[in-house]
Amino acid sequence: MNIDLKRYELFGWDYEHFAPLTDKEVVWYKKFAHRTGGPVLELACGTGRLLTSIAKEGYEIVGIDLSTNMLHLARGRTSQLPPEVKKRIQLYNMNMSDFQLKRKFGLIFIADNSFRVLKTKEQQLSCLKCVYHHLRPDGKFLMTERRFDPTKFVNGRREIPWSEPIRHPLSGDLVKRKIEIQLTKNGKRMHGVMLYKTGHANGSETVEKCPFEIPVMLKDDYISLFSEAGFSPRVFVGYEEQENDEKNSILCFVCDKSE
Ligand SMILES: C[S@@+](CC[C@H](N)C(=O)[O-])C[C@H]1O[C@@H](n2cnc3c(N)ncnc32)[C@H](O)[C@@H]1O
Repeated sequence: MNIDLKRYELFGWDYEHFAPLTDKEVVWYKKFAHRTGGPVLELACGTGRLLTSIAKEGYEIVGIDLSTNMLHLARGRTSQLPPEVKKRIQLYNMNMSDFQLKRKFGLIFIADNSFRVLKTKEQQLSCLKCVYHHLRPDGKFLMTERRFDPTKFVNGRREIPWSEPIRHPLSGDLVKRKIEIQLTKNGKRMHGVMLYKTGHANGSETVEKCPFEIPVMLKDDYISLFSEAGFSPRVFVGYEEQENDEKNSILCFVCDKSE
């Protein structure tokens, strides 16, 4: 399967600088853990930053991710936890569009733009069918994705300039990140590249290019996919669950299994 994992394999440590977790986000997921009583499954769990917070609340949680490096970072994080919290967490190297865990969950979620890494409708539906299969009849399925904002593109292009230097957690080298994105296929897809420039201790510089391709998805595209996979979705804007708020870019989907 054609999946853009290079960015996560080489620069997974940067994800939390690039997209910091907010308190509101953590509170939102915890609220649903309380409501459903768990157990919880997080798809594309990355460095485990959300799942550790949920395990600390007393819930059993399974995290799956396709990147061995992201799971390595997640295991590093869970190894710091008290043993009674750590034992509630299980991590697996699995593909979210084709997994089998042989148990059901009260809460399943895909956080922070992680669903859109699936490039085709086939992969997306396959993922949602796996979710359906693993969700208890009274369970909740949550997804959060950033709303596509066409005003950020000029002539179909967007550039996020070089970041301030960030220190590599192991080598201590200073690393900068830049993102270039182009709309393709009549605005239906985004082709992009994340550039990482590393300044080494000997004065040399290297640039690593991590390409990515993601579909452009609007609110109604998600809703029709969820319905096709057997869910009744509700959509809110932002973690405070506004019905509509043009200023907030986070779409929060809350899905039940359809009757
Ligand atoms: C945008 S990051 C978000 C990580 C995490 N959800 C968070 O909020 O911190 C996307 C994650 O999806 C993972 N990923 C990409 N394709 C995947 C797939 N097919 N199955 C499972 N994980 C995948 C990447 O390795 C990466 O950890």
